[in-house]
Amino acid sequence: MKLFVVNLIFVLFCCLNASAQSARKTENFDDNWKFILGDDSLAKQPAFNDSTWRILDLPHDWSIEGSFNEKNPTTQGEGGLPAGIGWYRKTFKVPSSSKNKNVFIDFDGVYRNSEVWINGHYLGKKPNGYISFSYDLTPYLNFGDQNNIIAVKVDNADQPNSRWYSGSGIYRNVWLTTVNRTYFTKWGIFITTPQITNNKAIVHVSTTIIANDKNLNLKIIIFNKQGKIVAASISPVKNDEAKTDLIIKNPQLWSTDHPYLYKVVLQVLKGSEVLDNYMVNAGIRSFEFDSQKGFFLNGVHTKIKGVCMHHDLGALGAAVNTRAIERQLQILKDMGCNAIRTSHNPPAPEFLDLCDKMGFLVMDEAFDMWEKKKTKHDYHEDWAQWHKKDLEDQILRDRNHPSVFIWSIGNEIREQFDSSGINIARELVKTVKDIDNTRPVTSALSESDPHKNFIYQSGALDLVGLNYHPEAYADFLKNYPGQKFIATETMSALETRGFYDTPTDTTRHWPQSSKIPFTQGNSEFAVTAYDNVAAYWGSTHEETWKIIKKYDFLSGLFIWTGFDYIGEPTPYPWPARSSYFGIVDLAGFPKDVYYMYQSEWINKPVLHLLPHWNWKLGQIIDVWAYYSQADEVELFLNGKSLGVKTKQGDDLHVNWKVKFEPGTLKIVSRRNGKIILSQEVHTAGKPAKIELLANRQSINADGRDLSFITVKILDSNGNIVPNADDFINFKITGPAKIAGVDNGSQVSMESFKANYRKAFHGMCLLIVQAERKSDKVEVSATANGLKAANLTLTVNN
Ligand code: GAL
Repeated sequence: MKLFVVNLIFVLFCCLNASAQSARKTENFDDNWKFILGDDSLAKQPAFNDSTWRILDLPHDWSIEGSFNEKNPTTQGEGGLPAGIGWYRKTFKVPSSSKNKNVFIDFDGVYRNSEVWINGHYLGKKPNGYISFSYDLTPYLNFGDQNNIIAVKVDNADQPNSRWYSGSGIYRNVWLTTVNRTYFTKWGIFITTPQITNNKAIVHVSTTIIANDKNLNLKIIIFNKQGKIVAASISPVKNDEAKTDLIIKNPQLWSTDHPYLYKVVLQVLKGSEVLDNYMVNAGIRSFEFDSQKGFFLNGVHTKIKGVCMHHDLGALGAAVNTRAIERQLQILKDMGCNAIRTSHNPPAPEFLDLCDKMGFLVMDEAFDMWEKKKTKHDYHEDWAQWHKKDLEDQILRDRNHPSVFIWSIGNEIREQFDSSGINIARELVKTVKDIDNTRPVTSALSESDPHKNFIYQSGALDLVGLNYHPEAYADFLKNYPGQKFIATETMSALETRGFYDTPTDTTRHWPQSSKIPFTQGNSEFAVTAYDNVAAYWGSTHEETWKIIKKYDFLSGLFIWTGFDYIGEPTPYPWPARSSYFGIVDLAGFPKDVYYMYQSEWINKPVLHLLPHWNWKLGQIIDVWAYYSQADEVELFLNGKSLGVKTKQGDDLHVNWKVKFEPGTLKIVSRRNGKIILSQEVHTAGKPAKIELLANRQSINADGRDLSFITVKILDSNGNIVPNADDFINFKITGPAKIAGVDNGSQVSMESFKANYRKAFHGMCLLIVQAERKSDKVEVSATANGLKAANLTLTVNN
C-alpha cells in the first residue's frame, strides 16, 4: 500500500471530467412504464399486448391510490389499503454503441416478491421489499432499432405481511447502467477513514474491478466542496481487488452540524482511456461509544437525539420522492433532531444521501423478524433462503454513507426469548462484520432482563439497544456491566394534532395493558395533544427524555416516532388507520410536543403556548408553555397577568389553570428582565376565509419536484379556527398536478389522491407536483361560505 500526496501528481488529473463522462452511463429508468393492477402471466412474454394498460412514471405505489376498507386483507395494521398483484412493463431501445458493453437494470426497491423478465427471459425473484438489486441484461438485449421489453410482476397478495403500511409496487427508483467490459462491481467500492487527526486524514479506498482488459491503472481523486483536488493517486491494477490509502491534509470533518462531504472519483484507465468511472460522496468523521460516558462524534460528547421513521411519505404513500423526504428531514432538523432509525428496514438510497448532506446520524436496520413470524406472511417465509444475501447487500450498499453509524440486525426479534437467538445473532453480526467492521452492530431488544435475553446472551452485539423500559436505564451499568447503551426505541406517546383533553393532571396509558380491552377514548377517535397519554409499554415524551438527558452513559434515544405513519393506529379500532405516535402528524404539521423538543434541542430561544383559545365560558383550561433560554415566562389573559412561572427541577414545561373567557391569551419569556419572545393565541370567530402557504414558490420542471401547500381556515381577523373542518376543493391550472392531499387526521377515509380535503383542526395540506414544462401554475382553494384563496407557483426549467 502506498500513500500519495496531492501535488506530486496533480498534472495527471487535469482532464478528468472530459474523459470520464462516456465510460459509465447511469440513466434514470423511471419514465413511461405500463401498469396493470391484477395478474396476467402472459404479460412476461414480449409479444403481449399491453396497449390498454395505464401509462405511468415510477416510483409508483398502487396501494396509496386505493380506498380504505376494513375488510382489505392488509388489515388495519397496514392502514386497510388494498395490496394484491400488479404488473409493470416497459419497452425500450438500447443503442448499437452499447454492444460489447454490460447493461444492468438496478431496482432500488420493489414491494414485494418481484419477478423480472427481459425479452421473455426470466431474470429472477426478490422477495424482500426493501432491498436493492440488479440484473445483468447483457445476454438478452436487442440493440439499435429493435425493441426490448422488460416485464415485472409484483406480488403483495399474501397478507398480512407487515405491521405497518408497506405500499405495493416499484415504489423506489429504477436505473439502467451501462459499463464497459472492464468495470467497478456494484457496491464494490468501500471508503473508510482509519486515521483522523487535525492535520490529516487517511482515506482508505478498496475497490473491486472486473478486469477484462490488461495493463490497467486505478486513479483516485478526492475533491473538496469547492471542487479543488485535495488528494489523488494512480496505481496499476494487479488484482481484481485493490486497496489504496490517500491523505487529506487539514481535513474538514463531517458532523451533524457541519455535514462536510468530499467527492471521491475513481477511474479505471487503460493508457489514457477511461474504462470506468465512479463517484462516491465521502465524509470524514470518527465516533465512539463509551460505556461510562456515552457517545462522541469527532471527539465531542454528543447526545443522540433521534427518531424512528417508517418509510411512507404520508399522502404520497411509499413512492419515493426526494423532495418529500427532504421536507420530512428538514422539519426534524428544525426540531433539533440529529439521528434517524430506519425502522425496521433498509431505506431508499436517496434518504441516506440526504442524511449525509443534511447531517443526520442513521441507525440502518435490517429486519423486523427472523425465523419467527410477526404476521402470517411476513419475511419469515423467505428467511432461510434470503436473509444472508439481503443483509450482505444492505451493508454493501450503505457502507459508504458517513451518516450510517449503527447497523441493526433486527427489531424486537422473537428469537430474543429463547436460545435460538444466540446462533442467529452471531451469524448475522458476523455477516455484517465480514463486510464492514467500522460500525457497531446492535439489535433493538424488548426483553430488558439480560438473563432472559438470548440475543444479548449471544455476546455478539457491540451496543445494547433497549426498546422502552425506561425504568431499566438508571441501573443499566449494574445489570449490563461494561456494556454500551443506546435506547433504540422510546416513548410510543400518543397525540392527535389540535385535539385537547383538559385537565391534564394524570398520565394515561392507552391501552392500559395487554389484558384489558381498550374502552377509553372518545367519539372523535382522537388523543389529546397535551403530552400525557402513551401506550402501556411506553411513556410520555417528558418522562423518558428526562432520564436520557440526565445520564451521560445513556448515549441517546430514538423516539417512536418522528412522523405519524400509515398503519398501526394504536389505541383505536377502525376507522383509525394511521398512527398517533408521531411528534409530527402525517401531513407534516408539528404537534405541540415538537416544541418541547425544540426547547431542549436547538440552540435558540423557544416559546410555545398551548392549547387554542376557543372554549366554553367558565371552563377551567390547563395552559402549558414550553420555553428555553429564558429565566421565566408570564401569562396574560386579556391583559391581566395570570402569574410568572419558572421551570423547577427537571421540569420541561410550565402550566396554569385558567378560567376561560374569550379574548387573547398572551405569553412572554424574559431573561434578565428583558422580553425574549412573546406569543398570542386569540379566540377565533367563525370560519371566514382560506389561506394558502407554499413551502416552495418555485419548483423544477422535472416531473418530480413538489411544493407543499399548507391550507388554513381563518376567521375574519386572520386567526386560525381551531376546530374548523370545512370541505376544501382544489383546482390547478398550468403544468402541475395534485400529488396528494392530507390533513393529519388519523381516521379520515378520504382518498390521499383526491382534489379535495376536509380541514382538520383548521388545517389541511395540498401537495403539488411539477410537470415537465415551465410556466406559471395557479392554485385555487374554495369552500362553501368561505372566501377562496389563490396562489401562483412557478415551474422552472
Ligand atoms: C414497538 C415496535 C414498533 C411499533 C411500536 C408501537 O414495540 O418495535 O415497530 O410497533 O412498538 O408502539
